[in-house]
Amino acid sequence: MSEASPPTVLVTGALGQIGTELVSALRERYGSDSVIASDVREIENHPIINNGRFLTADVLEKDSLKAIIEDNDVSIIYHLAAILSATGEQNPELCERVNIGGLANVLELARVYDLRVFSPSSIAVFGPDCPDHAPQITPLNPTTTYGKTKVSGEVMARYYWEVHGVDVRGLRYPGLISWKAPAGGGTTDYAVDIFHHAIMSGKYSCFVGPNTRLPMMYMDDAIRATLELMDAPTESISDARGGYNIAACSFSVTELVAEISKVIDPFECTYSPDIRQEYADSWPDSVDDTEAKNDWGWTAEFGLEKLVNEMLTNLTRAREVEA
Ligand code: NAD
Ligand code: SER
Repeated sequence: MSEASPPTVLVTGALGQIGTELVSALRERYGSDSVIASDVREIENHPIINNGRFLTADVLEKDSLKAIIEDNDVSIIYHLAAILSATGEQNPELCERVNIGGLANVLELARVYDLRVFSPSSIAVFGPDCPDHAPQITPLNPTTTYGKTKVSGEVMARYYWEVHGVDVRGLRYPGLISWKAPAGGGTTDYAVDIFHHAIMSGKYSCFVGPNTRLPMMYMDDAIRATLELMDAPTESISDARGGYNIAACSFSVTELVAEISKVIDPFECTYSPDIRQEYADSWPDSVDDTEAKNDWGWTAEFGLEKLVNEMLTNLTRAREVEA
């Protein structure tokens, strides 16, 4: 008996921090031929380009996306193309255009071609009036343009589900920590950069202050959450489909430094807060992910200690291989 052929999956923004790992996970699951990675840029010798199908595509060019979907019979889109918070506040017009305009194109094509969509949201949807431990349902009044685009994205996702029946799902990712690809211009990038500097020089100058505490997650947890959400039966997905809170750990920079210092000694962190401090201060310390746990069984595997050990071990090994 022949097995059903796998769906064709398109990933936008595939060369970024998440795409680099999500595309590999999707290729393992569906096979390399069934996963098309795409991005507005090309990066020489990028593993995602070297190890499977890759197309250059700007999510603002709807006709190009349409042609890719039609030519390849795409049935699922993981829409990762976006401008993150720090870069977005430097160029709010671009941030709105890519984050809202790109998603509008994807959702409209999903309606026409009956596609399933993953559309990430962020802890940046919360603003200063949100409790320190952010509930799933709370006023969403972000101060950043990036956060506003993510609130709009959640609203658009719910609209396309309720009015057009498009099966679109999203997660409010915390700050993501990973070693395979650099962080892409966000406020939480310090929690990635710090590991590189700790290994290279034993020193780091942090752009937010020592008491800054934010929700964070190791990339392995984030990729698993993404796949688990997309695998969940439709009937288990609630009104939170535009952006489920998911939590793994929450720590201050001081706590992160203390954990890194257990492995890299001496390690010195100094502080030179810039505008990104304001963005970080407008976000909650932690999030309540009860709804994700109840609806589709979410549970994190990486706390602070495990995450730090994984980051230092893997980055050290990667540097040795490169040397
Ligand atoms: P990233 O910046 O690392 O990658 C984004 C990719 O999108 C880049 O490769 C970029 O070239 C591409 N891109 C930008 N404009 C494009 C366009 N017009 N057309 C096609 N591609 C374009 O971002 P990431 O960290 O991988 O984030 C992916 C998604 O997850 C985004 O929606 C982001 O808001 C969300 N998110 C990320 C984090 C995090 O900590 N990384 C946290 C919360 C939410
Ligand atoms: N990590 C992301 C950022 O800092 C949050 O969405 O922009």
